[in-house]
Amino acid sequence: MNVLRELTTHSFDLAIVDPPYFSGPERRRFYGNAISTTSIQRRDYPVSEKWKVPDEEYFKELERVARYFIVWGCNYYIHQFPPGRIIWDKCNGNSSFSDCEIAATNLFDSVRLFPFMWNGMLQGKNIYEGRIMQGNKKKNEVRIHPTQKPVALYEWLLKTYAKKGWKILDTHLGSGSIAIACHYLGFHLMGIEIDKQYYEGARKRILDHQRIPTLF
Ligand SMILES: C[S@@+](CC[C@H](N)C(=O)[O-])C[C@H]1O[C@@H](n2cnc3c(N)ncnc32)[C@H](O)[C@@H]1O
Repeated sequence: MNVLRELTTHSFDLAIVDPPYFSGPERRRFYGNAISTTSIQRRDYPVSEKWKVPDEEYFKELERVARYFIVWGCNYYIHQFPPGRIIWDKCNGNSSFSDCEIAATNLFDSVRLFPFMWNGMLQGKNIYEGRIMQGNKKKNEVRIHPTQKPVALYEWLLKTYAKKGWKILDTHLGSGSIAIACHYLGFHLMGIEIDKQYYEGARKRILDHQRIPTLF
């Protein structure tokens, strides 16, 4: 909120945000189970006490600083969003995790679907073949954050909805997946992350991608 208050009105074209919808890992100290062939181990992540579920003031500020928004987890907030929805189908079979995640947007009034497999080691192939499992597990994205979203999801959002030269904002950067997609697609991004450990992890992940030579 301190950063948002300093930004001028419509200083960003598109905000793609994924705020926490529970008050932090002090309530959910772990996420998921790492299943090996011999045992099920609890997978622990860094604990932060600083998470704050967004309130009306946050959404008001977000709508002020960005012309368009995509807000993940909209079904968890009381805020009255416009009708546009984006559904990410995780293609995760009979998993006990949610089948889909839902975002609210003011980019359009309809409902759009993006299928991309995201279920532990089972990850989609690419943005066009998201229902098909990536055959080579070595190419899978390494997960550094309990609620990490795939780079492919952000790649699809940016390719589908952002125009060349748009400035992008993410107020809850997490693992930095959005920053990697922005890097490859040439979008300017400002990302904010309150947790030092996640910030450092995201920074390393982004730098690793920036070191990979590209054809362009
Ligand atoms: C749902 S996660 C975002 C995950 C991200 N989309 C990804 O793909 O990795 C929410 C993130 O918001 C951060 N956070 C919580 N409260 C915050 C605040 N007030 N300001 C900035 N970041 C915050 C948390 O530390 C967490 O990393």
